[in-house]
Amino acid sequence: KKQYRIAVIPGDGIGKEVMPEGLRVLETAAKKHGVSLHFDHFDFSSWDYYEKHGQMMPGDWKEKIGKHDAIYFGAVGWPAKIPDHVSLWGSLIKFRREFDQYVNLRPVRLMPGVPCPLANRKPGDIDFWVVRENTEGEYSSVGGRMFPDTDREFVTQQTVMTRTGVDRILKFAFELAQSRPKKHLTSATKSNGISITMPYWDERVEAMAKKFPGVKWDKYHIDILTANFVLHPDWFDVVVGSNLFGDILSDLGPACTGTIGIAPSGNINPEGDFPSVFEPVHGSAPDIAGQGIANPIGAIWSGAMMLDHLGEKVAGKSIVEAIERTLAERTLRTKDLGGNADTTACGKAVADMVD
Ligand code: NAD
Ligand code: IPM
Ligand code: MN
Repeated sequence: KKQYRIAVIPGDGIGKEVMPEGLRVLETAAKKHGVSLHFDHFDFSSWDYYEKHGQMMPGDWKEKIGKHDAIYFGAVGWPAKIPDHVSLWGSLIKFRREFDQYVNLRPVRLMPGVPCPLANRKPGDIDFWVVRENTEGEYSSVGGRMFPDTDREFVTQQTVMTRTGVDRILKFAFELAQSRPKKHLTSATKSNGISITMPYWDERVEAMAKKFPGVKWDKYHIDILTANFVLHPDWFDVVVGSNLFGDILSDLGPACTGTIGIAPSGNINPEGDFPSVFEPVHGSAPDIAGQGIANPIGAIWSGAMMLDHLGEKVAGKSIVEAIERTLAERTLRTKDLGGNADTTACGKAVADMVD
């Protein structure tokens, strides 16, 4: 039987608090379903590591984690000590780019029993996927600062859209839409204002749509799209967006389901040439770190996505069902969802519900 090797990187802040709960639930589900997981733990990609070594990761980080079957990640960033762009470009964004994880897959689902901040919404009304381009677009290293510290100082940062990069994320999103009952895809654009890259994005969407005649598709400019997430979340099935638009939509979507604390994600290299990274959508949350109140569901659900990705669908599904049963009970939910369970109690509850 295959043993999966998982690289575990807790990172900073609540990343360190939710990770043990994610591992607890993964271990429980693996045992119940006869899946063999081996965890290797790494302390890099954190402020602690940076403080000791003057860099976010060791020079040979790729050798250390590049051969694992998957990477399970907490969160990184400690802005009081190190600028976010330094810590993020020194770790998470490196994973995404160097491991060519061009798909960032982020489900948005209103769970049974969870109070919805939007009026009159029930489970089923909000159930879609954000498919975010994850290696190019607005997150580019093309640009710079000229004439620093003078009156002539200026900065630029170019959006990069390659034909390969745009087409491959659109293909993934259309395929996902095709596999779903509603077969509906929405594209996030801003081609009225961003006059070169966004019209190009639209053009590639139109070309890709021709290859998927069974998929109904539409597009919205990002401004009204955010409004429609709030007013009409039931309109969406698969939403595809550039790196920045996908980032924004994947906090807004989960917020519409009660909290960003439950949102999971997979940074996926679909070809399997490199390991994929599974992590909650949220960050290190310095404002609540150290209090033991962080919602561990985002991390736990990310573990389920990781099992799915490894092909262990039954075990993955058992975790998602355990999450649903846990969230249905107010007393088992964390504070962000109106409950009074702490991080550990919530994680243990999910582990107990796995079958
Ligand atoms: P954040 O997601 O860390 O927190 C935003 C708000 O949501 C905070 O009020 C926080 O308390 C709350 N929150 C987040 N996760 C929660 C959880 N599991 N349970 C309960 N409440 C939760 O975003 P931010 O404040 O913009 O960023 C903080 C740091 O994290 C920064 O350094 C940022 O760059 C980094 N960050 C990292 C990642 C990542 O590692 N993938 C993602 C986002 C932000
Ligand atoms: C996310 C985060 C990151 C992103 C930040 C921390 C660079 O917000 O994973 O959504 O923008 O991709
Ligand atoms: Mn984000």
